[in-house]
Order: sequence, then structure tokens, then C-alpha cells
Amino acid sequence: MKVQENGKVVSNTGVALNLHFIEIKVPKISTQIKPGNFVSLLPPSSSGAFLRRPFSVAGVQDGSLKLVIRDIGKGTHAITSLAPGDCIEVLGPLGNSYPDFEPDKKLWLLGGGTGIASLLFLHDVHGNPADRILWGGKTKDELPMETWVSSSITFATDDGTRGGHGNVVDVARRWLKDDRPDYIAACGPRGLLKGVQQLASEYKIPAWISCEEFMACGMGACAGCAVPLAVGGYARVCADGPVFKAGEVLL
Ligand SMILES: Cc1cc2nc3c(=O)[nH]c(=O)nc-3n(C[C@H](O)[C@H](O)[C@H](O)COP(=O)(O)OP(=O)(O)OC[C@H]3O[C@@H](n4cnc5c(N)ncnc54)[C@H](O)[C@@H]3O)c2cc1C
Ligand code: FES
Repeated sequence: MKVQENGKVVSNTGVALNLHFIEIKVPKISTQIKPGNFVSLLPPSSSGAFLRRPFSVAGVQDGSLKLVIRDIGKGTHAITSLAPGDCIEVLGPLGNSYPDFEPDKKLWLLGGGTGIASLLFLHDVHGNPADRILWGGKTKDELPMETWVSSSITFATDDGTRGGHGNVVDVARRWLKDDRPDYIAACGPRGLLKGVQQLASEYKIPAWISCEEFMACGMGACAGCAVPLAVGGYARVCADGPVFKAGEVLL
């Protein structure tokens, strides 16, 4: 059941270019949240951003949510400027979650940009050492310093300045030459999700994608986040998603 909570910022660390790792204490929401769910944060009114902003959850620890937020506009700038001890209104959990994958099955988690967030949480919860997690960015400056992230993450950059050369789908395709997962979970920009859908269909690997469409109300009331379904009609990313079985939505 979704709850509105007055969250307290526990930490805010700049980890790469305009990229922040933020922990917010929300004891009620943190006990309910599952990988794939998102929360809505209300930026401080002084920012001039009056609508709540949606963010995936990257993990939970000691009653706090871990968030990975890129400063791209008014709302995210105000949120990434918060200091430990500051308060912010948080609404959640919102949306659906990834399925409960069997612990002995091998997962590949393919994330682009801040799309990595829900996959970091899924990685923590699934916990199979055979899982592989890939974080792609355009260039090395978009990706965090080594010390901040778990050593199990593999990086990829479009320009080859860090980790595998090419986008996330290129790198996953190379992995498939000598490895194969039972399931794929992916989150990131539309192009990445489209590429993952194609790859999963080609190799007949069941996959789930998490969409990050623009949202207005964020609560299923305005259809501002609608995506077309393969069977016809539309789904609302905020209420019916953000997680969909690959092939279910037309990208
Ligand atoms: C389910 C979901 C989960 C998300 N999880 C994360 C996350 O974990 N970390 C994170 O940093 N961001 C995440 N986002 C995106 C985040 O909500 C937007 O970046 C944020 O709302 C932008 O607010 P702003 O006021 O800073 O930008 P605005 O001032 O509103 O816009 C600044 C620029 O960003 C563009 N923009 C705004 N929203 C989006 C969007 N959703 N996708 C692409 N471009 C956008 C605008 O067109 C504009 O050019 C998520 C979005 C959704 C729907
Ligand atoms: S943002 Fe309003 S229905 Fe999804």
C-alpha cells in the first residue's frame, strides 16, 4: 500500500558527472519496496518544480532507500542539492515490480544510465553469484568511480573510454558467444530497451524491461505515460508498469 512519508536525507554523494547517490530515510516505504517499484519525490518548493518526480529505487538499507539521481533539470537539481538532515516528501511504493526470479536461475541485468538503479536492487535481492550486471554510459565521465560500486558490475561505454566498447546491447551480444542467462532484466533509454527486446527474442531468452517514460500525475490518472501494447490498446507506465515482459509493449 502506498504511503506518503516525510523522508530525511541521510547522505548525498556526487559519484560521477551530475550523478548522485542519495540515501533517504523512510522507514515505512522501505519495508514494502521491491525491485522495480519507484517512488515519487516532491522537490523543495523553492526549486519552482511543483510536480513530483519519479525515481527507481537502487536498494534498501537500515530503513533508507538508495537512489541514483542524475541532475538534468529543475527538480533533479533541487533534489541533488539536498544535504544530510534535509527533509523531502516521498510517496511510494509505486508501480509494479520484477517477478520473483528463482534463486538458482542466472540473470543478466542490463542497465543504461540511471536505468541501472532498479537493477542494482534486483541484483542485491536475487543474489545469485552467477548473475551478471552491466552498466552502460555514453562516456566514462557518466559512470561512477570504481570505489563506489560493487566489484561485480561490468561497465560499457559507447566511446570505449571505460569497460566494454559499444552500447549495452553490443556487449551483451558479445557475452552470448560463450554464456547464456536464464532471464534478462533491463532498464534504460528506449533504444536500449528496444535492442534488448530484439536480442531476447532472437536468442529466445525470457526478458523483462522497465520503462522510464515521462510522467505527469504518476498515479494512473492522466494517461500522460501511455505506451502502446503489442495486442492493441495502451498501458500506463506508472500504474500498469514500469516493468513489462519483453514484447508486451511496442517501443
Ligand atoms: C519509473 C521511472 C523511474 C525513474 N528513475 C530514475 C532514476 O532512478 N534516476 C534518475 O536520475 N532519473 C530517473 N527517472 C527520470 C526522472 O524522473 C527525470 O529525470 C526527472 O523527473 C526530471 O525532472 P527535472 O525537473 O530535473 O527535469 P525537467 O526540468 O522536468 O526536464 C529536464 C530535461 O529532462 C527531460 N526529461 C524529463 N523527464 C525525463 C524522463 N523521464 N526521461 C527522459 N528525459 C526526461 C526533459 O524533456 C527536459 O529536457 C525515472 C523516471 C521514471 C518514469
Ligand atoms: S503519469 Fe498520469 S497516468 Fe501515468
